[in-house]
Amino acid sequence: MTLLKEPDLGTPAMPGDATVAVEIDGLAVTVPPGTSVLRAAAMVGVEIPKLCATDSLDAFGSCRLCLVEVEGGKGTPASCTTPCADGMKVRTQSPKLEKLRRGVMELYISDHPLDCLTCSANGDCELQDMAGVVGLREVRYGFEGENHLDAPTDSSNPYFDFDASKCIACSRCVRACDEVQGTFALTISGRGFDSTVSAGMDESFLASDCVSCGACVQACPTATLQERSVVELGMPTRSVLTTCAYCGVGCSFKAELRGDQLVRMVPYKDGGANEGHSCVKGRFAFGYASHPDRVLSPMVRDRITDPWCEVSWDEAITHTATRLREIQAEHGPGSIGGITSSRCTNEEVYVVQKMVRAAFGNNNVDTCARVCHSPTGYGLKQTFGTSAGTQDFASVDAADVIVVIGANPTDGHPVFASRMKRRLRQGARLVVVDPRRIDLVRSPHVEAAHHLQLAPGTNVAVINAMAHVVVTEGLGDTDFVAQRCEGYEEWAEFIAREENSPEALAEITGVPAAELRAAARLYAAGPNSAIYYGLGVTEHSQGSTMVMGMANLAMATGNIGRDGVGVNPLRGQNNVQGSCDMGSFPHELPGYRHVSDDNVRAVYEQLWGIPILPEPGLRIPNMFDAALDGTFRALYVQGEDLAQSDPNTQHVTAALSAMDLVVVQDLFLNETAKYAHVFLPGTSFLEKDGTFTNAERRINRVRPVMTARTGKQEWQIVCEVAQAMGYPMRYDDAAAIMDEIALTTPTFAGVSFAHLDEVGSIQWPCTAAAPDGTRIMHESGFTRGKGAFIPTAYVPTKERSTRKYPLILTTGRILSQYNVGAQTRRTANVVWHEEDVLEVHPHDAEVRGITDGDLVDLASRVGRTSLRARISDRQPVGVVYTTFHHPVTGANVVTTEHSDWATNCPEYKVTAVQVALHRSVPAAAAADPGAVLVAGE
Ligand code: SF4
Ligand code: SF4
Ligand code: SF4
Ligand code: FES
Repeated sequence: MTLLKEPDLGTPAMPGDATVAVEIDGLAVTVPPGTSVLRAAAMVGVEIPKLCATDSLDAFGSCRLCLVEVEGGKGTPASCTTPCADGMKVRTQSPKLEKLRRGVMELYISDHPLDCLTCSANGDCELQDMAGVVGLREVRYGFEGENHLDAPTDSSNPYFDFDASKCIACSRCVRACDEVQGTFALTISGRGFDSTVSAGMDESFLASDCVSCGACVQACPTATLQERSVVELGMPTRSVLTTCAYCGVGCSFKAELRGDQLVRMVPYKDGGANEGHSCVKGRFAFGYASHPDRVLSPMVRDRITDPWCEVSWDEAITHTATRLREIQAEHGPGSIGGITSSRCTNEEVYVVQKMVRAAFGNNNVDTCARVCHSPTGYGLKQTFGTSAGTQDFASVDAADVIVVIGANPTDGHPVFASRMKRRLRQGARLVVVDPRRIDLVRSPHVEAAHHLQLAPGTNVAVINAMAHVVVTEGLGDTDFVAQRCEGYEEWAEFIAREENSPEALAEITGVPAAELRAAARLYAAGPNSAIYYGLGVTEHSQGSTMVMGMANLAMATGNIGRDGVGVNPLRGQNNVQGSCDMGSFPHELPGYRHVSDDNVRAVYEQLWGIPILPEPGLRIPNMFDAALDGTFRALYVQGEDLAQSDPNTQHVTAALSAMDLVVVQDLFLNETAKYAHVFLPGTSFLEKDGTFTNAERRINRVRPVMTARTGKQEWQIVCEVAQAMGYPMRYDDAAAIMDEIALTTPTFAGVSFAHLDEVGSIQWPCTAAAPDGTRIMHESGFTRGKGAFIPTAYVPTKERSTRKYPLILTTGRILSQYNVGAQTRRTANVVWHEEDVLEVHPHDAEVRGITDGDLVDLASRVGRTSLRARISDRQPVGVVYTTFHHPVTGANVVTTEHSDWATNCPEYKVTAVQVALHRSVPAAAAADPGAVLVAGE
């Protein structure tokens, strides 16, 4: 499409019904109370000149360009700060107004470089536009006097410049940083003529608190704050609407191109998940798609020690299919399997699970969600009946109490975090349950009412203690429970036991009983209380128990089924929800329907023309174990770096090495590819055609911004492998795959590319009863009928700190990097995070003689690695913390085989470790069987 320019109505929309009638230049318009005259005018097509106003920010009234005359009123008020009043008559054009506006523009232009024709923003500059709109023809003031024309440019940020000489001090950037992003990194310092924008304490953008979200760049009406890519490549000329491929927020973007060159990503105002905002990854970190490391041709080799050999697509596909069939012939149909990726589209995932079931003839398919949110699927299905979060993101705007458990939204889900912070600034109360003092606990204008700084691995004890308070103090919603739930009596009897009281559990959890009681009372009082959680809940041996525990608490207090409440997983990768929805689990067909269900199998058996096994296949850890036993011999891995992201790296790599055939479909030769025999190059999100489903069940279109650099869409490759194996699998395009998904999956029944193109995005369930999707689940009844209370006994993890491994390691993410870093490490984002570091509490550091920046050895009973220490009291004494974005650090070398009892989700968040200055790890640890020295040494 041509360059999509969204209308800017000047000031934000006001909530409520349109009840105020005004007349603007003789045109009648009715608006909700509080709507500005500027916005009302824009709604009837009357464009009042403006500079400091934009509809993503509250009106400021500083530029004085939007002046109007109001019948019966005095003077010439600014229309952006004047609310409409019933019966008001407004004039936007008059000789007097024109003269005033020209005078304002003259002052701006007299202190502005007159390089419009060569300026990088030429054609996309509101100052330039407004000069034309007000009819400015000459500037009477000379340029000789004091001015800002020599003001310096700050180029410290890798993605955008700040050219102070072009600043008109409109404060849009400052307000964007405050109101939209919530970081408060910018100020206008000085007064009057001396007013200048400054980052932090007069620092460079890079040195300041700026998180490089780009909201200020987007808000700036001039070329003062501008993407460097625009300076280098020129103004874009066309745009394609698509979806970010990083996190589970699922932000919509306009990919803006000049010719075939992607110039910039601009967050889309109508994006259901992000409403025009973004973070540094989605807006700026797309350069990996054209990174020279990308592999664009298929490659094969006989042994993993052989060099790779480039082959044609036909050769690669035939070779893959032949080897898979040979291995099955020798070792049985169950000796091969596949893994789907949460990085890929729904359509790409669907065809992989179909290939496994229809062409491989088994259920040996699993997904990388196994290692992140599989407990969410299990826990929410058991209690509510649907394996998904209950709300949309907008719901948080109605929350009075927000509980964040085991999630770090400002780093992991930044755009949602900005929305959440906005609600907190409006007065919602916050409870953070996390061993680490995440930014939300205290950041500008946000402070948690309670930070329950629990010991890693004691989530269930904390949630039980909160529920204990609710039940024993009579704080629950008895009507809700009586009408909508079952199993309450048994659960209440269990949870009311003294062993679940905050006092009894305080020693285990480390959370003072009084603090926990206060947090529980706050949650119960609401009136709207919402739980948001992340991998700090799921990646535990009791991950599924904890998910059910949160569901119990929400049901007991009636916090389900309306705006502002709910239990909401913050999904990690862009399509975790979708990859689970698409039948990637060995026990479930698409739509979370068990393979043992004859009726469900019959749907696919008829359509696909093959029998489907009624027994579940192997999960990822079972595949690894079977590989080491010699019974599992070949694996097709779609876009997932198992060797880096799965726990106990030594075990994973031993299993991969034991297989006869490992096929990797990916962008880069990742760590897993070191153990692969076939490499099938994948497509970046800029080349894909399909859909992603975000954390709010929102299905978003991913549209090809450029043609596939490999010559093939990933779903085509999978179909061709299946066909070469003798199973016919053909689709005309990705839309046809979605049609098959809709045909066979009741919750997707109304979804099609055409419908998505029409309405923008759809939150499933999308059925005849809800043709445009479902914002909030379980409004009048639970999917399973009655919500089920399930007792959640706390069982301590087997992973204990010992004399040899006295510390507990927990892991997490940071804003600028993503997961194993395959993408972000290939962008300028490395400027913020060159390496993973180990955060060590000052006390733990002191007793080990460790100072900030020291290289330290981190050892667990399964492995050992080295990384730099950062002294930090964000986590309590006895707990150390790191990220896992860099393979050279190999944090998963030390994580163990413990996993969630229900789903095998690894217990990444609790590993007993020892830390010592590099090369002085106690001999006992170094000699421990299984300890392996790895990269970093
Ligand atoms: S990039 Fe974002 S965080 Fe940085 S100054 Fe601009 S709005 Fe603030
Ligand atoms: S940098 Fe841009 S948005 Fe900020 S005050 Fe200057 S002109 Fe306005
Ligand atoms: S918040 Fe997530 S989806 Fe949105 S731009 Fe950032 S990484 Fe992409
Ligand atoms: S746009 Fe109204 S005062 Fe600037």
